[in-house]
Amino acid sequence: MTLSVAVSGASGYAGGEILRLLAAHPDIRITTVTAHSNAGDALVQHQPHLRSLAHLTLQPTTPDVLAGHDVVFLALPHGQSGQYTDALADTPLVIDAGADHRLTSPAAWDAFYGGAFHEPWTYGVPELLVGAGGAKQRDALVGASRIAAPGCNASTVALSLAPGVAAGVIDPSDIVSVLAVGPSGAGKSLKTTLLASEILGSANPYAVGGTHRHIPEIQQALAAAAPAAADVRISFTPVLVPMARGILATSTAPIVDGATDAEIRAAWEDAYGSETFVQLLPEGQFPRTADVLGANTALVGLAIDRPAGRVVVVTAVDNLVKGTAGAAIQSMNIALGLPEATGLTVNGVAP
Ligand SMILES: NC(=O)c1ccc[n+]([C@@H]2O[C@H](COP(=O)([O-])OP(=O)(O)OC[C@H]3O[C@@H](n4cnc5c(N)ncnc54)[C@H](OP(=O)(O)O)[C@@H]3O)[C@@H](O)[C@H]2O)c1
Repeated sequence: MTLSVAVSGASGYAGGEILRLLAAHPDIRITTVTAHSNAGDALVQHQPHLRSLAHLTLQPTTPDVLAGHDVVFLALPHGQSGQYTDALADTPLVIDAGADHRLTSPAAWDAFYGGAFHEPWTYGVPELLVGAGGAKQRDALVGASRIAAPGCNASTVALSLAPGVAAGVIDPSDIVSVLAVGPSGAGKSLKTTLLASEILGSANPYAVGGTHRHIPEIQQALAAAAPAAADVRISFTPVLVPMARGILATSTAPIVDGATDAEIRAAWEDAYGSETFVQLLPEGQFPRTADVLGANTALVGLAIDRPAGRVVVVTAVDNLVKGTAGAAIQSMNIALGLPEATGLTVNGVAP
C-alpha cells in the first residue's frame, strides 16, 4: 500500500518536520507540498535539509491543490485550517497540526484564540490516559479520519501529569508548570522577540500569568484523564532559551493525602511501562532535551518531594517531533492500521 500525501505549510517548521519524517516512511509517497507567500519556489529553497524531496515545488495552498490525496497534513497558522474542512470532505484522512480542531469548548477557544470555532477532531496523543481503567487516546485514533495533532507544550505537560491524575494520587487543581522552550516552537516567521540578538545568551519568559494558548488544551486533556469530573487549574510559564528545538517541562502538583511513594511511582510505571515513545526514567534520573532531539520520544523523570508535599515531573521532548510531526505521523499510523512506530525513531541525535 502506498498512500499519496499532501503537506501544506511545507515551507514552515512543522510542515518541514512532517516531510522529513514522511520521507522515511515506507507506505507514503509525498506528491504535493504547498505554502503561502513562498508558493512557486522549490521546496529545498526553504527546506535545504530535505534533499530527497528536491524535485518538489511549493504550490499555493488551495482546496483544489489539497484535494485528491489519501492523506492531507495541514501545518498552517492557527485559524487557517478550518477553511479547508469542507473542501477536503472526500479526503480519507486529514491531520491538522494547528490548533483549530483541538479544543472542545467554544468558550475556551474564544478566550484564548478568537475567530471562528471549528469542531474538535480526534486528539493525536496516543499515550494519553483517558479516564479510569488505563484506557488511552490510542483507542480513539483507530480508524479516525480527522486528527488534531497536539500543541507541543500542551502534550508535554499532559503526558507528564496524566498518570498521577488518572490514578488519583495528585490534585489537578494546583498544577504549576515551568517550561524551557526553544524558539522553533513559535514558527519560522520573522518576529523581533525571536531574533538571535534577543535570544542568544538570555532566558526570556513570555505569556506569563495564565495567557498562553496551550492552557485550555492541557486542562482539557487532564480533565479527560481524571476518573471523575475534575477541577484542573494550572499556572503555566514558558521561558524561551537559546536552543533551536526542545522543551524541558517541569511540572509539580500536590500529592493527595494518603498516597504512598509506591502508589505514586506505580501510576507512572503502569501508564508508560509498555510504551515505546513515552519512557519513564529510573528513579533519581531526569531527562535532557539533548537526548530527544530528532526523536519521537518523551523522556519523563519523576520525583516525590515529600517536604513540599508535591510530585515533580520533568519531561523532555523535541517540540517538532513528539510535540508535532511525530505525534501526527504516529496518530496517522494508528488511524490507518499501520504499525504504530512506522517511520519514527526513539533515538535522538547526539551530541
Ligand atoms: N513549531 C512547532 O514546534 C509547532 C508545534 C506544534 C504545533 N505547531 C503548529 O503547526 C502550525 C504551523 O506552525 P509552524 O511552526 O510550522 O509555523 P511556520 O514555520 O511559521 O510555518 C507556517 C506555514 O504556513 C504557511 N502559511 C502562512 N500563512 C498562511 C495562510 N494564510 N494560508 C496558507 N498557508 C499559510 C507558511 O507559508 P509561507 O512560508 O509560504 O508563507 C508556512 O509554510 C501552527 O498552527 C502551529 O501552532 C507548531
